Amino acid sequence: MQKIVIEGGQPLHGRIAIGGAKNAALPLMAASLLTDGVLTLSNLPHLADITSMLNLLAQHGIGISMLGSAANGGHAGRVIGLDGGQITSTTAPYDLVRKMRASVLVLGPLVARMGEARVSLPGGCAIGTRPVDLHLKALEAMGTEITLADGYVHAVAPKGLKGAVVRFPFVSVGATENALMAATLAQGETVLENAAREPEIGDLAHCLVAMGAKIEGIGSERLVVQGVPSLHGASYSVLPDRIETGTYAIAAAVTGGDIELTGTSISLIGSVVDVLQKAGVTVTDTADGMRVARTSGRLHGVDVMTQPFPGFPTDMQAQMMVLMCTAGGAAMITETIFENRFMHVPELARMGANITVHGASALVRGVERLSGAPVMATDLRASVSLVLAGLAAEGETVVNRVYHLDRGYERLEEKLAGCGARIRRVDGSA
Ligand code: EPZ
Repeated sequence: MQKIVIEGGQPLHGRIAIGGAKNAALPLMAASLLTDGVLTLSNLPHLADITSMLNLLAQHGIGISMLGSAANGGHAGRVIGLDGGQITSTTAPYDLVRKMRASVLVLGPLVARMGEARVSLPGGCAIGTRPVDLHLKALEAMGTEITLADGYVHAVAPKGLKGAVVRFPFVSVGATENALMAATLAQGETVLENAAREPEIGDLAHCLVAMGAKIEGIGSERLVVQGVPSLHGASYSVLPDRIETGTYAIAAAVTGGDIELTGTSISLIGSVVDVLQKAGVTVTDTADGMRVARTSGRLHGVDVMTQPFPGFPTDMQAQMMVLMCTAGGAAMITETIFENRFMHVPELARMGANITVHGASALVRGVERLSGAPVMATDLRASVSLVLAGLAAEGETVVNRVYHLDRGYERLEEKLAGCGARIRRVDGSA
């Protein structure tokens, strides 16, 4: 199993090109099941989760053409054609779904177009139980009959879906995406209330509109969809990854460096930039993206609470905690989205951090510096937070279970090494 070895303490300077957003790309790829035309997606990141989704779509009968790469400010985003001309299977099997929870996003498109879907229940994962009840209730409201048996969701709508008013009891990114995709082919009007407003939902909605869908309220918590009989193919470019952007912004700040992030924008991560600025980090717009620098001395602790967009993203909580570990004073970090997303805390403590967890809150008391140690984490964002901690720490840090990082960060070591980080990937037993 591969590991990442970091010699910390080096301020990072340079430019990093930000890729397309994983969490936008996955629903966009699932949307290819809605049409018998070809959906061509560009600026797709090269990540393990994207490969998992391609395998799942291929298994449903989607024809896949790799159309090369298109340069995007130094980032070579992949271009892939997804041909939904022939759906050969409406079953998403356990073996493929268990690798990635976002596989459940095929449910809405399949039932909307084919009148039937059988999708393995994704089950819990390291960061929480993560049920899919809201996805199922939304589809039921649109006339789908749902039964659960043998670990599978069986969804049927023999006469097609019907428009409905769906009010989500709380915000869910995935349930909004599944319901939105299904509603595009339902008969009549569907209203999604208390819908998620994450930029990735806007990206999906704009792509669906390019495919012929009728959607109003894009970017708001009330999406109104007029169903159409069919969608057609389209070409669409995936938006920049705001979590990759925020992660490298923290790499600059935590090492006392100065990095320009290209192919992205401050507007995607306003809530993260607010915290960075309050902590004493300089963040400015540039012609190609944004610049993040820590020019003055020690940062100040800032309290952070995760919230649905436009609030502070749960996917940046672990990384921001690392920044607070060496800031002056204390910072209270509260996680409101997932019940078990503090798995980085014991690992950071092994690197010298002073963190006390009380339920959903972690009190971080800043220490002068972290020290390198062997560490491991069980999810993507926790793993990258340990890389950030390693970059700031004195001495050597070895991050195990690198495969988590490969799910969401393309060429991580190359991008960081390009800014002066002493980081390398090595083979070895974990
Ligand atoms: C998406 O997950 C992202 N994944 C996650 O990113 C992200 O952390 C999360 O949104 C929140 O922003 C993708 O986009 C592929 P939710 P999703 O439905 O859609 C509960 C990463 O690191 N819930 O908004 O699964 C759920 O358990 C990943 O890139 C229900 O109870 O998140 C959670 O507590 C991790 N019932 C909360 O809602 C449901 O039917 C929000 O989850 C659905 C969700």
